[in-house]
Amino acid sequence: QAPLHISNEPIKPFNGDSSDISKLQEALTKYQFKSLEVPLIINGQKIYKDRVLKNHINPSNHSQILCKYAQATKEDVNEAILAATASKAKWAKMSLDERAAVFLKAADLITTKYRYDLLAATMLGQGKNVYQAEIDCIGELADFFRFNVKYAFEMYKQQPVASSPGVWNRTEYRPLEGFVYAVSPFNFTAIAGNLFGAPALLGNTVLWKPSATAILSNYLLMEIMIEAGLPNGVVNFIPGNPVEVTETILSNKNFAALHFTGSTKVFKDLCKEIYSKDHFREYPRIVGETGGKNFHLVHPSASLEHTVLSTLRGAFEYQGQKCSATSRLYLPESISSEFIQLLKENVKKIKTENCSINIKGFMGPVIHEQSFDKLAKAIGEAKEDSELEIVSGGYFNKSNGFFVEPTIIKTTNPHHKFLQQEFFGPILTYYVYPDSEFEAICNIIEQNSTYGLTGSIFSQDREAVIFASDKLKYSAGNFYINDKSTGAVVGQQSFGGSRQSGTCDKAGSASLLSRFVSVRSIKENF
Ligand code: SER
Repeated sequence: QAPLHISNEPIKPFNGDSSDISKLQEALTKYQFKSLEVPLIINGQKIYKDRVLKNHINPSNHSQILCKYAQATKEDVNEAILAATASKAKWAKMSLDERAAVFLKAADLITTKYRYDLLAATMLGQGKNVYQAEIDCIGELADFFRFNVKYAFEMYKQQPVASSPGVWNRTEYRPLEGFVYAVSPFNFTAIAGNLFGAPALLGNTVLWKPSATAILSNYLLMEIMIEAGLPNGVVNFIPGNPVEVTETILSNKNFAALHFTGSTKVFKDLCKEIYSKDHFREYPRIVGETGGKNFHLVHPSASLEHTVLSTLRGAFEYQGQKCSATSRLYLPESISSEFIQLLKENVKKIKTENCSINIKGFMGPVIHEQSFDKLAKAIGEAKEDSELEIVSGGYFNKSNGFFVEPTIIKTTNPHHKFLQQEFFGPILTYYVYPDSEFEAICNIIEQNSTYGLTGSIFSQDREAVIFASDKLKYSAGNFYINDKSTGAVVGQQSFGGSRQSGTCDKAGSASLLSRFVSVRSIKENF
């Protein structure tokens, strides 16, 4: 087989080529005024009639309904299970080449024919600017589909290293026997693609419950999969009440795996539910990527300007709503004043705005009212707490959209809950440590984090880098040296953490794919 040439999808800069901008603007207009009706898709059938409908609203302008979408009933979920079961034999029997072709074609449709539609749907529905949408629903999404194909071929090639005379040993990479339940978050359209795409590529069939606040882009992605040739029933699109959908799925003995990205609490509840049952035909595989309290640790030797700009981007791009967003910062005393001064100067230039109007605006809204209220409450608490001081931002306003200013909070307590709790928004808390206590602060970070997703050390001193890399072993599954805690690129840095941040199965890797196969070893005597 000819080697497959896979490389990262280039990101369009949207500065200069006016045809790019006008195509995007056309798509933005189309999706704002389309009043789309989003059906369930079960066994390839679109189902909308007589279902409870919900609104997907624009978080930048909450009076605008982007689409109405159907909620799956218990019967629908059962239908989807039947569809996933019925389509399984044929899909699993197809060669990897044939299944891969669907995903490679989808990647092509994403990056060409539907680029502007996906960008518009992600910008409007998930509150992203054009750059954040490009790196998500174009770059990362196409990369997941293409790199997964590459990893799958590599995995299938792995065969026994030894045979004896008259014996042929071989390994078969079967899909799991039952179906996979994929639960996706609002913040990355790409993650949704990987959650259903990775298991499906390997011959599994999937029930996909998208996030209620990413319906517009996720539905478009589902339509792209169909156009790319995904057979009916292989992936079933079932938005709905999370508790009801999950209950129906877990009451079925053919549930074989959970592929999840979302909050730690929801994941834990799901795990408890799964472990409490003993009717499953096979031990369910559980793969989850959950919360984070990602850190930047700055050493006195760090390059100031680079570290400040990296922190600004890590903490406030996409309103701090990446799983990997920087939300705590440890600064050495010797440079802390200068650092915060420069950070504040830059943060003050940021406007929170509707990025589907100003497509290159730096910050848009947070995703929904619940998130807005949680952030407003945290800012309110910070005003009352004697160990906290708001040094920048702290303003929030939901009269049009869910806008929260980038907010920087200082704490005098290295164990403060603001350095431990995840807010999932644009709040950055920092602590200043004495320069002589770099090693002690490493210990505090490592021992005090319940999370272990991402973290960075900024330092020009190799000894300090070596010390921190060694010490901060489990507090970051993605560890960056002189780079921000966000922005893992598929094929370059596989993504995922441990502790309360997930099962560390690493999205964008061969090891993730291995969780969705059931390997059969075959020995044949001649
Ligand atoms: N790639 C994203 C990040 O690292 C997460 O999917 O921020």
